[in-house]
Amino acid sequence: MPTKSTGAWLPVYAQFPLRAVSGQGSWIVDDQGLKWLDAYGGHAVAATGHCHPDVVRAIAEQAARLIFYSTAIPHAGREELAELIASLCPDPLGKVFFCNSGAEANENALGLARKVTGRQRIVSVQGGWHGRTAATLAVTDGAKYEEAARRSGIPLSTKVPFNDVAGIGAAVDDTVAAVIVEPVQGLAGARDCSPDFLRAARVACDREGAVLIFDEIQCGVGRCGAFSAAEAFEVIPDVLTFAKGLAAGLPIGAMVATPAMTANLKIGDLGSTFGGGPVPCAAAIANIEVIKRDRLIENAVMVGDQIRRAAEKLAGVTEVIGRGLLIGLVLDRPAADVQAKLFESRILTGTSGDPRILRLMPPLSFSRTEANLLIDALRRVLS
Ligand SMILES: Cc1ncc(COP(=O)(O)O)c(C=O)c1O
Repeated sequence: MPTKSTGAWLPVYAQFPLRAVSGQGSWIVDDQGLKWLDAYGGHAVAATGHCHPDVVRAIAEQAARLIFYSTAIPHAGREELAELIASLCPDPLGKVFFCNSGAEANENALGLARKVTGRQRIVSVQGGWHGRTAATLAVTDGAKYEEAARRSGIPLSTKVPFNDVAGIGAAVDDTVAAVIVEPVQGLAGARDCSPDFLRAARVACDREGAVLIFDEIQCGVGRCGAFSAAEAFEVIPDVLTFAKGLAAGLPIGAMVATPAMTANLKIGDLGSTFGGGPVPCAAAIANIEVIKRDRLIENAVMVGDQIRRAAEKLAGVTEVIGRGLLIGLVLDRPAADVQAKLFESRILTGTSGDPRILRLMPPLSFSRTEANLLIDALRRVLS
């Protein structure tokens, strides 16, 4: 029996007309028992796929032991996860603060940059998307987000054109607290920054004493060639943020900073009731262990290349952008039409802020066979 909506839930999201009941790996099953291939990855969240047995077991075991206690007492899982994340980020990024979402991680990163520098201004990048809290809206590109930030009275960031090396150098002066940038812009359609642009941001921040923040909410946790995009691009920020793929679907956000950034923090300077709770931490540890054990970062690079090479040959694809398994297919027609046709073939994909870019962000465990299914369907739909 299809489930029914009563209309109480606020309809503020564009939704796929499909009711998911269960999931496994790259597949979800709807309320009719039909299987769907998930090249959208639950919005880049299902890093190890849906319901990986190790993650499910870790959640169940932790929930049976202790669902929650606040940060008022230490918890081994929280400390273990922080060590694990620090060990996977390039030096000197080694201090981890947990919260519950991507926006919250960015909010904390911006707040920390302002506190450390004593400055207020932020520089961000055109096409950048950083969240829906007041401070993150103010650094996000797009009239409706900026309007929402203005209503909160938050000063808007200076937005530099994408990949404008000279522009980023010129925009950063000694009144700037931070530059915030997604190394691969998610909502803009998997647009990957040039390493030169990220290096120029690093140089400008060093020159002016500003903080460089990488928003890796969508492109981090192994999606773009290394555990952190910082490592993949070989540019080390002062702060980076993770969320989406970190706990395979349980809410968690992490702000990872250098010791220099956190040296003067005192008890009470940061905080979150739920941040780094025992169950999300257990899920994240299991998720990361699967990513390491099953070499899912290498898999994401390999399957990403497979998709990229095949997609470049498809009629209707004018360019393929992105890195690893955060891929943007630039089309010669509206991406929403192609997405709708793939949906008819029971394949989920994403659109983006650019109406011609179809966004692919499947689980890091996406197999070669699943990639072939996706490519075959794309070929059918585009021809
Ligand atoms: C790059 C980026 N930053 C921040 C966010 C906000 O994350 P959340 O929705 O968990 O607050 C998102 C979410 O899509 C994102 O893609």
